Amino acid sequence: MLSFELNELQESIKDTARSFAKEVIAPGATDRDKNAEFPTEIIKQVGELGFLGMNVPEQWDGSGLDNVSQCIVIEEFAKVDASVSVIVSVQKLVNSVLVKSASDSIKERFLKPMARGEMLGAYCLSEPEVGSDARGIKTMAVDEGDHFIINGSKNWITTGSKAGVFLVFAQTNPDLKHKGITAFVMDAKSEGVTIGLKEDKMGLRSSDTVSLAFNNVKVPKENVVGKVGEGFYLAMQGLAGGRIGIASQALGLAKAAFDLSLKYSAERHSMGVPINQHQAIQIKLAQMSMKISAAELLVQKAAYLDDLGQDVGRESSEAKLFASTIANDIAREAVQIHGGYGYVREYLVERIMRDAKITEIYEGTSEIQHIVIARDVIKNVQ
Ligand code: CAA
Repeated sequence: MLSFELNELQESIKDTARSFAKEVIAPGATDRDKNAEFPTEIIKQVGELGFLGMNVPEQWDGSGLDNVSQCIVIEEFAKVDASVSVIVSVQKLVNSVLVKSASDSIKERFLKPMARGEMLGAYCLSEPEVGSDARGIKTMAVDEGDHFIINGSKNWITTGSKAGVFLVFAQTNPDLKHKGITAFVMDAKSEGVTIGLKEDKMGLRSSDTVSLAFNNVKVPKENVVGKVGEGFYLAMQGLAGGRIGIASQALGLAKAAFDLSLKYSAERHSMGVPINQHQAIQIKLAQMSMKISAAELLVQKAAYLDDLGQDVGRESSEAKLFASTIANDIAREAVQIHGGYGYVREYLVERIMRDAKITEIYEGTSEIQHIVIARDVIKNVQ
């Protein structure tokens, strides 16, 4: 039987994350969005709180939190600034692969500083011509004895210009197709790495998104994560967990848009009454409330089952697909409730609507989530 009541530790993590979000993250969020400014100082403090190593065991300098707590932190941050929450979520994604499959040497050199918040990681899977069809990556890694030489390009890399380490997925044997893909950790300062221009995005404007070019980058063999040829599986496993983080981000955005709509519709009058007395607005508020409750259950279920060690590929896709869809619905309706005020930058719902869009795109588009869910539900049908 599932229990979604938070325990004492989870409640206290929620309080810490919520206070930090309100007191430290929220105040400059509008300006950072306007100026597309990376939240450097805030991320430093997030690291000091242990939230950049939430899913790393204490043995490797992490906080060793359960997945439910990790989702709470991402949700609380997303309520005030989705850019900060995605940096935390991607760090969690990279950490998860290293915790599960990296050697002790990689953990010592890369995971420990990441867990302590001294180093950021970037997940380098997507390429200019390869997004949804992840098995088609073209970045090549050639075995040269004691090292690999990596050539290729990566696109849409969150935290790419700020990261100290790249988790790179590259093809080591094209004849084997996806079974030839290998995962590597690459020091971001390696010779031959070029960081492209920062993308000028619709939303998440203060998170960093860049392209990367690798020109004969030498990566020692000890930097292979897991086994040669195992990279596609590691990428998929990582994303299966990572998608719960993006679902939590979407949930946070949805809750923020709902809270703002409740407040505004109680204060704003039309035709002699607060607008929340009009049935047209009440229907919107009721829909928002119901969708958030359902999304929350899906996110908590995926996180809870993950904590039990179950395979949550379908559950995390369901959580991400549903939470990102309702976050966009709710953000759009929040702007509608705010009328003209919702369309100007001064009101937070405008940023929420721009920020919410990406949750339907990254870490697997909504179309890809449908594929993952459908394949799982039909696989056991006789
Ligand atoms: N765990 C382990 N193995 C898995 C798996 C999982 N969750 N999912 C699939 N696999 C295995 C399969 O069992 C299969 O194994 P075998 O070949 O040995 O039988 C193998 O992987 C291939 O699987 P599929 O046949 O399902 O592969 P496919 O090519 O048909 O489809 C896909 C896979 C679901 C479409 C996948 O390519 C996918 O998820 N695409 C989306 C990529 C994505 O999410 N990109 C996000 C970029 S990262 C990002 O956005 C981070 C950021 O910065 C914010």
